[in-house]
Parts: sequence; structure tokens; C-alpha cells
Amino acid sequence: MHADETGRGGGGSLLQAGAPGAAYAEGEPILQVRGLVKHYPLTQGILFKKQVGAVKAVDGVDFDLSAGETLGIVGESGCGKSTVARMLVHLEPVTGGSIRYKGEDITKLSGRALKAVRRNIQMVFQDPYTSLNPRMTVGDIIGEPYEIHPEVAPRGSRRKRVQDLLDVVGLNPEYINRYPHQFSGGQRQRIGIARGLALNPEIIVADEPVSALDVSVQAQVVNLLDRLQAEFDLSFVFIAHDLSIVRHISDRVGVMYLGRIVEIGTDQEIYDHPTHPYTQALLSAVPVPDPTARDHRERIILHGDVPSPANIPSGCRFRTRCWKAQERCALEVPLLAVPAVFRDTSTPARHDSACHFAEEKRVVPPEGLLETPEPADAPPEEDDRDDRGGPA
Ligand SMILES: Nc1ncnc2c1ncn2[C@@H]1O[C@H](COP(=O)(O)OP(=O)(O)OP(=O)(O)O)[C@@H](O)[C@H]1O
Ligand code: SF4
Ligand SMILES: [Mg+2]
Repeated sequence: MHADETGRGGGGSLLQAGAPGAAYAEGEPILQVRGLVKHYPLTQGILFKKQVGAVKAVDGVDFDLSAGETLGIVGESGCGKSTVARMLVHLEPVTGGSIRYKGEDITKLSGRALKAVRRNIQMVFQDPYTSLNPRMTVGDIIGEPYEIHPEVAPRGSRRKRVQDLLDVVGLNPEYINRYPHQFSGGQRQRIGIARGLALNPEIIVADEPVSALDVSVQAQVVNLLDRLQAEFDLSFVFIAHDLSIVRHISDRVGVMYLGRIVEIGTDQEIYDHPTHPYTQALLSAVPVPDPTARDHRERIILHGDVPSPANIPSGCRFRTRCWKAQERCALEVPLLAVPAVFRDTSTPARHDSACHFAEEKRVVPPEGLLETPEPADAPPEEDDRDDRGGPA
């Protein structure tokens, strides 16, 4: 994650107390995902159910997450982002492939071993309106994980700990007895983040954490996540469909299409030197604030709908919408690897891209830098801490 220092110290000791396991050196892969698959069976018949196919929601996803980094995952609606997220945190069993955490295969863990690992990989959900139980106080919501993991915060210390967490996410600790409906959307998402931090996780999987929020509040929450990541050495998987936000927060970015990652690289490689036609099309649709740059950027309009994940095209799954498709594309599945044409180069185009005919194409001129939620544009975090927390 890019450095962003709003520097509200004080939380480090909170999360270090009781921190799990040995620290992992920055840059080492803390998560390794290989061939991850989730197929939902399609059945027919009422009494005797017969499988007639499968929704291939996730169909062979590979990536590494290094300790301390933020990996952004982008892609159109329905491409499988949330399903990946749910498998990473064991909310969904996998159909195939593996997830390794610090080298250990955690894909099929159960019982106590799973409980120990789950503590270290927490999720922040998209919708702060539905993900918080309206009948529980904020204190109970944030403190709920301690019922399962009392070793992290013994009963007598919990209230103080929850108040510390509220402070860490920029909310007034005195709000501990309030209910979710008494907070704004941005504040609710802060509560969700505090809950995600409660067990001192090492990895946070954030599934569209700001998509449901107003644009002005999005910047504040993104900046909060940025700060927390630096403060607590978190590793992030940050899922979103907004490419500008993903660029702002990510060190590396994976682009998903129909259940697979089709291109992955550093933010600069993906945004400034994309080589996969799908990434190029996505980027060409991103709003460009600079009018001159806007006039010079190339729009790539994709035709046709995304195919059904129950009926994935042969060969390259993007071929039905790709303007560069050739016969080979229907016959051979392109692997996610450095394309042969770039293998002996040292340009930023040398990164993994699943296309037989990968070539670099900058769709947004350099002067038309993508719109990002700049910290300077955002009201200070204390704004919603004091002004909007009161009962309606
Ligand atoms: N329980 C389920 N049973 C059958 N199909 C499912 C199930 N859950 C998800 N799907 C399908 O899997 C595909 C991927 O869904 P997923 O929610 O992971 O996409 P997404 O990329 O998160 O989309 P969005 O951007 O809209 O959140 C979709 O076609 C979806 O309809
Ligand atoms: S492999 Fe063919 S169809 Fe697929 S993205 Fe590349 S050119 Fe397009
Ligand atoms: Mg989703």
C-alpha cells in the first residue's frame, strides 16, 4: 500500500498485545493461492436431483499475497471476486485448488486448527447497512469475536479493548453503547473495520469496503484502511470494481474475468502498461479528470454480454468480447504468465498476462492520471467522529 501518513498513533500496542504467531518478514508470501476453484452445481429434478452442470464462479485463480502488501482485485460484477474472498476466509468451502498461509495448506483445515488460522484472516464486508446486527450495540458487535477467542481479550479487559478499537478507527469511544442505526454509512463501515481488527489479524480481506458509501466518505475510509495497514503491518486483499480506488490503495493489482485472473502486476504495470485486451478495455472506461487527456484517450467499447459462468467459452474465456480474437484463441487456453514477447525485456510490460497476443497499449495518456481519492480532498477523519455520531 502506498504510504499515507495521517499518523494517529496509539493503536500499535493495542494490536500487538496478544498478536498471533511469529512476525512474517515483509515481502514474503503470507498467502499463496493456486488453482482456486468454486463450482456451484446446477441440478434438475425435485425428488432425484441430478447435476446437469455447474456455475463456475471461480475457475482457477492463482496469486500470492506478500506480507505487508495490498493486492487489489478488480473485475466486472459477477466475475467471482466475492467468491474468492469468501473462500479465503473459509466462509465457503473450496471445490478445488489450494490456499497456503505462511506455507501451510489451510484449504481443508477444520476444528481447532481452522479456528486458529481464521483468527489471522479477517474480512470486512461491502454493505455496512446489512453486515451489522441492528439489535446489537456497537460494543457487542466489535467484541463478539472475543466470545470465540477469549484468549485475545479476557472478559474484564474487553470493554476497554473495544473502546481502544473505536478510537483506532476514528470513532468516539463513548459510542460503545449505541446501535448501528445511530451511525452514518461511513461510521458503520468503521465499526465493521474495528470488528475486523478485533482479533489482531495479519490479513484483511476487504470485499468492496467502500462501494456502498458516498464518494466523499469513500476517500476517508480508504485513507483509514491505508493508515491501519501501515500502522499494524497488515496485508490486504482489497476487492473493488472501481479502478481508481484500487490504484490508490494497491501495491499490485489482479484483473479478474469470468472466474480467473487474466492479468496481474504492480499498479504501475497494470495501469500504465496493460497488455491484456480486457484490462485495456476496463481502463479505457475510467473517468479522466483532465479534459485534454480525456480528448486523447482511447475508448474501447466491449460488445456483447459477459458469458454465463455456467457456459464458459473454450480457449480464452474473453474471446467472445475481444476485438483481437483469432482462431487460436478458441482452441488454446492462454496461461497467466509473462507473455513470450516480453520475456527477454525489462519493460514494465513484462508481467503476467493471460493472452496469446499480448501487447502493450496505454489507453490513458500519462498526463491524464487516473482520478484518485486524494487525502487532501477528504475532510479530516474526526469529522464523522464528532458531528455525525449522535442519535438521529
Ligand atoms: N451460492 C451460489 N450459487 C450459485 N451461483 C452463485 C452463488 N454465489 C455466487 N454465484 C455466482 O457466481 C458468480 C460470481 O459471483 P460473485 O458474487 O463472486 O461475483 P462478484 O465478482 O463478487 O460480483 P459483484 O461485483 O457483483 O459483487 C456469479 O455469476 C454468481 O451469480
Ligand atoms: S487470447 Fe485472444 S481472445 Fe483472449 S484476450 Fe488474447 S487476443 Fe483476446
Ligand atoms: Mg461481490
